[in-house]
Amino acid sequence: MTAGISAPGRARIPERTLRTDRWWMQPLLTTLGLATFVGYATIRAFSGVSYWVNDYHYLSPFFSPCVSTSCAPGSTHFGAWFGELPGWIPMGFLALPFLLGFRLTCYYYRKAYYRSIWQSPTACAVAEPHGKYSGETKFPLILQNVHRYFFYVAALVSVVNTIDAILAFHAPSGGFGFGLGNVILLGNVILLWAYTLSCHSCRHIAGGRLKHFSAHPVRYRAWTFVSKLNVRHQQLAWTTLGTLVLTDLYVMLVASGAISDLRFV
Ligand code: FES
Repeated sequence: MTAGISAPGRARIPERTLRTDRWWMQPLLTTLGLATFVGYATIRAFSGVSYWVNDYHYLSPFFSPCVSTSCAPGSTHFGAWFGELPGWIPMGFLALPFLLGFRLTCYYYRKAYYRSIWQSPTACAVAEPHGKYSGETKFPLILQNVHRYFFYVAALVSVVNTIDAILAFHAPSGGFGFGLGNVILLGNVILLWAYTLSCHSCRHIAGGRLKHFSAHPVRYRAWTFVSKLNVRHQQLAWTTLGTLVLTDLYVMLVASGAISDLRFV
């Protein structure tokens, strides 16, 4: 081999690493965190139960938009565009593949799973187990470049989630209502927007390819705003995984009757 740690001129060290600290802790925690989310989301998305609270119009984000006649009555905020779905198709099938693609191709998540799962490399001064490296220049990883297009769809899905959160201000008797579920749905949607807008592609769309910011004051302002969010992209990536689970879990518990929603109005 002539590349990587076997390249000519590199010291020949038989051990994979000489590090004695717990360098494996961060990749391990990352793997566990991602696996927990993927496991939970997969089980919930395919379960098809307890995702809609008819009294308060709470809809779980994993099932939105719900656009088939299989959806619970009242949960089809945008209409039923499809007939009955077979059990193996998740109710949120319209948005889920794009949201998955958005997160999978995200620059931060790439860093996270390249290091922790693909071990390329696992940590500084820890040799990777792969013999060669072609980066994102070949299939399939070259597909990571479609991230910008997933961003456009993810922004649309955030609009859908926002509408869901607004429609959830609903009282069982009709009219305006407000409960703990609204706080959770709204908090989730605000953080989803923060994560989506903090995207590196969004930052480039806002301020990229400009020669003079002074000639484009609106785009400069947008770029400045996105840049402030962008430095928190990693934290927002993790926080939104947590708020998505929390929101779905709360809706599931209320919908199944395990707990009652705390009502303020
Ligand atoms: Fe993470 Fe775009 S870079 S969502």
